[in-house]
Amino acid sequence: MTKRVAIVADRIGWEERQLIQSAPALGLEVDWVNDESLCLGHPDTPSVDQYDALMIRSRSYTRGGLIATLAEASGVPVLNSAGAIHACENKLVLRAVLREAGVPVPDFRLAVSRKDFEKALDDLGLPVVMKPVYGGMGKRVTLIRDADLAHSVYDYIEDLGHAFEQACLIEPYLGGGSIRCLVIGEEIVAAAEFESAGADWRSNAALGNQSRALAHDPEVQKVVDGVVDRLGPGIYGVDLFKTPSGHLVNEVNHAPAWRGVASTTGVDIPAAVVAHVQEMLA
Ligand SMILES: Nc1ncnc2c1ncn2[C@@H]1O[C@H](COP(=O)(O)OP(=O)(O)O)[C@@H](O)[C@H]1O
Ligand SMILES: [Mg+2]
Repeated sequence: MTKRVAIVADRIGWEERQLIQSAPALGLEVDWVNDESLCLGHPDTPSVDQYDALMIRSRSYTRGGLIATLAEASGVPVLNSAGAIHACENKLVLRAVLREAGVPVPDFRLAVSRKDFEKALDDLGLPVVMKPVYGGMGKRVTLIRDADLAHSVYDYIEDLGHAFEQACLIEPYLGGGSIRCLVIGEEIVAAAEFESAGADWRSNAALGNQSRALAHDPEVQKVVDGVVDRLGPGIYGVDLFKTPSGHLVNEVNHAPAWRGVASTTGVDIPAAVVAHVQEMLA
């Protein structure tokens, strides 16, 4: 019988639409379920019991991990796993988890106060990058080259409403472009090198940056294998910085966009996702 998978998300983006449209021909039924209408908590999870698995694609930094945790606890197969989502949604937790597992990550400091911030600048030296612990699409990721600017930037952090928004990572600036590896299951199915083009120093695809396909690289493979060993098989966007001392993992997106790598590499990503889901449910 055809298996049914629910994409749990706040909205259908380009990637979700591609999956929903191409899955039936590949023998899988994929529906969108609004992440605001699940009301999980009932031990039998009636709101999702017609599905064989949930694919969590919430953009929210709080919903995905909570929904995955409750569904998993009720015995519903979830991808990515709750553990992986919890590790990825918080940049600081991810750094700690990967570093402990022996995966190379940039040096970093947690700043929850101006005292921490000053100490971090002293420890790391300028230039540094400051970024929110919860964030995405390059928002608020700030390059601080100038000591005169640093304290004024921190004034804005201090004025943010919630401690949740104030917690920041401070890390060395590692210029030179970044690499995005799309992992499905345990494999890198597509990889691309991004360069920040023109006005913005950040290389996010969401900021309109250019990329080119990256050939197989054993060192990249080794680092990404370390990530997958720690987080378990899943669908991940693993972002690396290339540095003179090797590749470092900047972040892992647990509901990655893939429009950029798909158009750069021509890989049929929905087919790979469907194959992974079918293998998981076999
Ligand atoms: N330490 C760093 N050194 C150099 N560039 C960085 C650094 N941290 C972030 N960037 C740039 O900023 C972009 C956004 O930062 P990132 O950590 O990926 O946060 P987000 O979750 O918002 O994408 C990265 O893709 C990269 O181009
Ligand atoms: Mg990023």
